Order: sequence, then structure tokens, then C-alpha cells
Amino acid sequence: MISKDLKNTVIKTDFGELDIDKLIENSAKRIFVTGVKGQLGHDIMLELQKRNIEGIGVDIEEMDITDPEAVKKVIFEASPDAVIHCAAWTAVDAAEDNEEKCRLVNAYGTENIAKVCRELMIPMMYFSTDYVFNGEGERPWEPEDEAEPLNVYGQTKYEGEEAVRKYVPDRHFIVRIQWVYGKNGKNFVKTMLKRSETHDRLTVVDDQIGSPTYTPDIARIAVDMILSDKYGTYHVANEGLCSWYDFAKEIFRLSGRDVEVVPVDSSEYPAKAKRPHNSRMDLSKLTEEGFTMLPPWQDALSRYLEEINYEAL
Ligand SMILES: NC(=O)c1ccc[n+]([C@@H]2O[C@H](COP(=O)([O-])OP(=O)(O)OC[C@H]3O[C@@H](n4cnc5c(N)ncnc54)[C@H](OP(=O)(O)O)[C@@H]3O)[C@@H](O)[C@H]2O)c1
Repeated sequence: MISKDLKNTVIKTDFGELDIDKLIENSAKRIFVTGVKGQLGHDIMLELQKRNIEGIGVDIEEMDITDPEAVKKVIFEASPDAVIHCAAWTAVDAAEDNEEKCRLVNAYGTENIAKVCRELMIPMMYFSTDYVFNGEGERPWEPEDEAEPLNVYGQTKYEGEEAVRKYVPDRHFIVRIQWVYGKNGKNFVKTMLKRSETHDRLTVVDDQIGSPTYTPDIARIAVDMILSDKYGTYHVANEGLCSWYDFAKEIFRLSGRDVEVVPVDSSEYPAKAKRPHNSRMDLSKLTEEGFTMLPPWQDALSRYLEEINYEAL
């Protein structure tokens, strides 16, 4: 509980300035978050906690998003002010052989949540992906560009977007992200560090370009967004571009590991699901709408390596 005497006070802490008015305002808010055992959902919950906002987090054990009745019951009981929906089928290659299972989670699961948000008349945030585009060319994708999903996962995530637009037309955030890594899950950084323990030389693709993006940075802007009414479709990424090869080189440089990284073409790494060559995202809408950009990807990577204590991996 915060005393009313502290109103209009700003307290300086090691983590930045705490605006007491904001904390009091936030303490009245309750945000429902799905997929909290995943990479992003976990950090969204931490960000809410940091800002004194009540987060009600669920994963599949508490609420299977493919079960419309369970979705309605659990969200109605929580009676939140907004929903941040992070749960998804994210196994991109496995999706190719499991199209309907993937659609059930990413499209119909999202639709179930969107319908409840409509009934409760509350805002909904949905995370989508650069895979809704065809991945060709070199121009950064703009939020309003036409979608042309390049694999099953991308197609079902796009169907999820359409459900959100249909059922929550005036109060949604569709946030497309890419190349995500966080403390709570498997990701490229952890894979590279692990492989470096047994290999002196690693081949990594250098013909796919994007922006590695750190989940606490996404969580920060996602919470800024959900506290605003600047609804719409956004692209979010740490600033700057690189290939997976550049990313791997930076991982080893920052972690002081002596590994030879050899650039190779994607054709040398055939995967079940097609991957985009061009994952460049146009981020200009963020500043146009008054949101603070995410730091450069190199800065995020160095914070991440400190946080996971990579020596211990
Ligand atoms: N990771 C990326 O690079 C990336 C890129 C672009 C967009 N995104 C999007 O960003 C969001 C968050 O991704 P993430 O990396 O945090 O995903 P994640 O780590 O795979 O977490 C997703 C969570 O959703 C849960 N889930 C799966 N099916 C469910 C169901 N039927 N009901 C309820 N929960 C279910 C998963 O449980 P199980 O683990 O038990 O399946 C998992 O805990 C997703 O919408 C994803 O599509 C991610």
C-alpha cells in the first residue's frame, strides 16, 4: 500500500525513477496474461510486477486456449482491464506436419480470447510475427504491408491477427516481433553457447537479415502500449540489423569464446518450414505514436549474457 502523502513524489532508485502517481494509478489495474511459462509471457509478468500492476498469469494447465468454455470462464472470473496474449504454438518446423493442431492454438485459440475481450469490452494485445510476410526483397516491412505468410506457422499467426481485428476491432494491439530470445526458454544464443563447448568451428547462415530482440525489452514497450489507447498494428524489435552469422559472432565476442564462425547460405541448412531472407521491420510507427524505441540489439545481447551467467551454461 502506498501512502497518499507520497503523491507527486519521484523516487530515484538503482533501476531508474519511480513516479509515485503512476504507481498509484497502476495499482488499480489488472492485466490477464496467457503463456506465462513461455519466454515472453514470463517477462511480461515481471514487467507488470515492476510497475505495481496486478498481473494474472496463466498457461495451458490453468487455461487451454483451445477450449472456448474454459477461456470464457477463467477470463470472466479474473475480470481484467486488458488481456496480453502470449500463448502460441511456436514450433515452426513441426507446424508443417501439424497444420490443424497449430491452427487450433494460433488461430482458434486467439479467436476464443478475442471473443471474450469483445464481451468484456476490454483491450487485447496479440503477438504476431514477421513470418506473416513473404520474406523477399530488402525493404523493411511496414505494419500495413500486405501479408503473404511463407509457412504454416506464419499463416496460422496471421489468421490469429484477423480474428483479433474482427472481434476486437477498436481496442487491439497486434505486435509483430522476430528473432526473440529471453531467459526463460530455448533460443539461438543458448544454442550457440552450448555448441561452442564442443565445437571450435561453427557454420551459421548469413543470408537471412533481421533484428535479434530481447524479451524484457519487448515486455517494457508492450506494457507501455497496453497502458495507452494507441491501438493498432505495430512492429517491435531491438534497433539495428544483422544476419544470424553476425549475431553468432557478437555472441562469441561478448562472451569471450574463441570459436571460428563460418558464414553459409541457407540452402546448406534445409529446414522443414521456409524461413524469410528479409525480416527487416520498419519501426518508425513506434516513435510516431510516442513510444520509446528499444535499445540496439548489441546492447540487449550484452545485458542478456550478464543475466544468464553464460559461464554457467
Ligand atoms: N519466439 C520467437 O522467436 C517469436 C517470434 C515472433 C513471434 N513470436 C510470438 O510471440 C509470442 C510469445 O512467444 P514465446 O517465444 O514466448 O513462446 P513460447 O516460449 O513457446 O511460449 C508459449 C507458451 O504458450 C503455451 N501454450 C501452447 N499451447 C497452449 C494452449 N493450447 N493453451 C495455453 N497455452 C498454450 C506454451 O506451453 P507449452 O510449452 O507447454 O507448449 C508456452 O508456455 C507468441 O505469440 C509467438 O507466436 C515469437
